[in-house]
Amino acid sequence: MSTLSRKIPFLRWSFIRLFLGMPHLLKNWQVGDGREARLAEYVVAKAKQGDAKDVIRIIDEYCYNESFLINVGDEKGLILDAAVERAKPSRILELGTYCGYSALRMAAAAPTARIVSIEFNAENAKIARRIFEHAGVSSRVTVVVGTLGDGGKTASALNQEQNFAAGTIDLVFVDHDKNAYLPDLKLIMREGWLRRGGLVVADNIKFPGAPEYRAYMHENEGKVWRTDEYETHAEYQTMIKDLVLVSEYLA
Ligand SMILES: C[S@@+](CC[C@H](N)C(=O)[O-])C[C@H]1O[C@@H](n2cnc3c(N)ncnc32)[C@H](O)[C@@H]1O
Repeated sequence: MSTLSRKIPFLRWSFIRLFLGMPHLLKNWQVGDGREARLAEYVVAKAKQGDAKDVIRIIDEYCYNESFLINVGDEKGLILDAAVERAKPSRILELGTYCGYSALRMAAAAPTARIVSIEFNAENAKIARRIFEHAGVSSRVTVVVGTLGDGGKTASALNQEQNFAAGTIDLVFVDHDKNAYLPDLKLIMREGWLRRGGLVVADNIKFPGAPEYRAYMHENEGKVWRTDEYETHAEYQTMIKDLVLVSEYLA
């Protein structure tokens, strides 16, 4: 792909198609043209089996050269990697698996950590599991289909089947429905899963935007959370700006 179309995403058909498919994407969390399922085929055909870093490289290649996907991406992925290295996690909770890209990055940055990733769409969960299998991380990464906003069903499954308990989670990556960021964070706090000193990394704070979450972190700065804001760009281009928040839990 040319440098110009990498910089200006609107020159790419795959990006335009994603915008046309926005209503479908926001309802079903797939673009609607089969690009997520094609990613799994692409990974299995091109990435070295058992090599998580090579799978990450191939997913980025697919997003730049074939079809744009709503992964955290390579630029913001570096902020996520650094937070994971800082937290030295044994256990990670992710909200929003999609095709598994960010979970793979976290699995690569913390090679002994166990990751539980919650995903609303069962088809996305299937794609992600296939990619984890190919990357050789499926024994450490579990996808749970559900949402924390489902009245307690998924939260109970985490407590009973995934051995979640007070202080057992070292890092949470929040990257799902932007309106659910704050309610789900509050549920995590009520359950007490995140240990003191643990980190919450939140993507897309500027684009598409999670203003209530950001305002909450500002209000609680130095009291319950200590937050660093990273200015960056939305995935796989440099025209649209974004913010990633990394918040340390002080309580
Ligand atoms: C932006 S994508 C996640 C990208 C992924 N973290 C990555 O970087 O590779 C958002 C995902 O969150 C899922 N999702 C949306 N609302 C959700 C909810 N309330 N709970 C769990 N998953 C949700 C969508 O189905 C979608 O797959």
